[in-house]
Amino acid sequence: MSVDILHVGKTFGAGTQSLTVLEDINLSIPKGKFIGVVGASGCGKSTLLRLIAGLDRDFTGSIHINGRSVDGPCRDRAIVFQDHRLYPWLTVHDNIGLGIEELPLTAAQRNQRIHALIELVGLRGFDKIYPAQLSGGMAQRAAIARALIAEPDILLMDEPLGALDSLTRSYLQDELLRIWEDRRSTAIIVTHDVEEAVFLCDTVVVMAPRPGRIEARIDVPVARPRDRSAPEFVQLKKSILQKLIR
Ligand SMILES: Nc1ncnc2c1ncn2[C@@H]1O[C@H](COP(=O)(O)OP(=O)(O)OP(=O)(O)O)[C@@H](O)[C@H]1O
Ligand SMILES: [Mg+2]
Repeated sequence: MSVDILHVGKTFGAGTQSLTVLEDINLSIPKGKFIGVVGASGCGKSTLLRLIAGLDRDFTGSIHINGRSVDGPCRDRAIVFQDHRLYPWLTVHDNIGLGIEELPLTAAQRNQRIHALIELVGLRGFDKIYPAQLSGGMAQRAAIARALIAEPDILLMDEPLGALDSLTRSYLQDELLRIWEDRRSTAIIVTHDVEEAVFLCDTVVVMAPRPGRIEARIDVPVARPRDRSAPEFVQLKKSILQKLIR
């Protein structure tokens, strides 16, 4: 599904207490593309993702998904947060199953789908485990599985790998790419890590703060799998970093 963001603005509060967080955001994302959003803390990245997810409808301008105006959350869009937000009282299996609770499936169909996702994110054997017994990376994988299970056309990720060590992080970046290539959903990832954005994305959007706006859009014309040490990769990373600190 395509995403079209037109003149989007967002202000929290009213009167002298008001804070304009997003101003005139324009972004068109073709179906199946992987988009990265980077920018200083507080520049409105999470706010923008929440608007696309339909979790907050109080904004100006318009957001269209496949030409239709966003009017609330929908199963065609799934969101992964920085903290995994798994329910501690449910097993990995049941947490992932939450994503399809309302679908008219038989118990067998439901289980089959849950197991396919557990397999996809590499959590085989952990289905009966509770979140407290998982490592951070495993919990994030479970959260990604929960987001993917309803087969969303748009996957929204807010720093999904932010809390992980660099090794787990680069491993899960490979996994994310594999899943995205497999499903061909449209993906938007917010990240603090410019290298992660260049590694994963077709286009990197650089946001500037106060008020949050788009400073630059940089296409990444590098074939995947990408070599992080290739000169063109390093050069792109450098030019994005320069735009970020300007
Ligand atoms: N519910 C809210 N009420 C008032 N202000 C808010 C609310 N949510 C966010 N803000 C403000 O909006 C601004 C942008 O917040 P947002 O969480 O979108 O930033 P961000 O770019 O995701 O930052 P970070 O990189 O630290 O996650 C901040 O100044 C924040 O204080
Ligand atoms: Mg944020």
